[in-house]
Amino acid sequence: MKILVTGGLGFIGSHTCVELISNQHQVVIVDNLVNSKPEVLDRIEKITGVRPVFFPVDVTEALALESVFAAHPHFDGVIHFAGLKAVGESVEKPIAYYYNNLVSTMVLAEACLSHHVNRFIFSSSATVYGDQPSPYREDMDLKTTSNPYGETKAVSERILSDVAKANPDFSATLLRYFNPVGAHPSGLLGEDPNGIPNNLMPFVSKVARRELPKLKIFGNDYPTPDGTGVRDYIHVVDLAKGHVKAVEKRTSGVSIYNLGTGKGISVMEIVKAYASVNDIDIPYEIAPRRSGDLASYYADATKAKDELGWEAELTLADMVRDAYHFETVSGK
Ligand code: UFG
Repeated sequence: MKILVTGGLGFIGSHTCVELISNQHQVVIVDNLVNSKPEVLDRIEKITGVRPVFFPVDVTEALALESVFAAHPHFDGVIHFAGLKAVGESVEKPIAYYYNNLVSTMVLAEACLSHHVNRFIFSSSATVYGDQPSPYREDMDLKTTSNPYGETKAVSERILSDVAKANPDFSATLLRYFNPVGAHPSGLLGEDPNGIPNNLMPFVSKVARRELPKLKIFGNDYPTPDGTGVRDYIHVVDLAKGHVKAVEKRTSGVSIYNLGTGKGISVMEIVKAYASVNDIDIPYEIAPRRSGDLASYYADATKAKDELGWEAELTLADMVRDAYHFETVSGK
């Protein structure tokens, strides 16, 4: 299949391009480089032996996007990763988040309709479930999310569902990610946020490299087995493979899948695994809870297994080993 991947040079997008190419699909990448680097293209080529076609285009710009569709008139599907993704920043810059994340979804969906591209895979988030007991199932009602980033995911899901309702040939697959971590085992692709990382794993990696002095664990008084927050961490390579299964599946209307392992892991378990697998000390201190954080959530991952034939295979040891490997070999 020939697939347009927006945000294809980002963390999840780049790993997905590798898995698509490894499964004999043809990839065209669109990325505005706001949170990614052009070298990622070289690295995708180094891993796969194939250099994807790349357009440095912002998906919110309809005319620029049109030139991509004009140059490649026969996409079999699109996978839409492009978007802003920092929860804290979204609270400070709500307009940037609503504008980028919603306009890009609408512009891309419209281009798909006018070019008869009927398969749209969307990068959504477990955050759309809001605050309710786990495991999260795809048929649960959604609750309000606690920040503009989360709302852009919930509203984009709604927009795509309405587009699918109005256009019977158009199908939307909404993939709700849990917490993607790890890196490509080659060490060539991984998560490389600008500035001080907000998310746990890249922060731990910076501490491991002694670029930051110590991790702050946000709260140890949650109602969880060891008191620290629990999430469903999933290796980014597993997540990427879920996209290949989703794009290959014939569907109609709207399909929703959780992409998680189905298993909760605490912050303390992450820190201990990172330290022991990589044989490195991770200094930490207990800090107050971070505002907006939930105590615990994880996926019910059975629907993706039953309908896509996909399940996460990599372990916590793989996640922390590959995250550290990326830090030490990538030369970034
Ligand atoms: N944490 C720390 N110290 C840190 C960073 C995080 O203790 O320096 C803890 C958090 O309190 C939480 C856990 O590590 O318990 C995971 O935090 P992350 O920031 O890595 O991830 P979140 O679960 O907060 O956020 C993720 C994605 C968002 C998504 C959200 C909800 O990053 O994109 O899940 O699904 F919106």
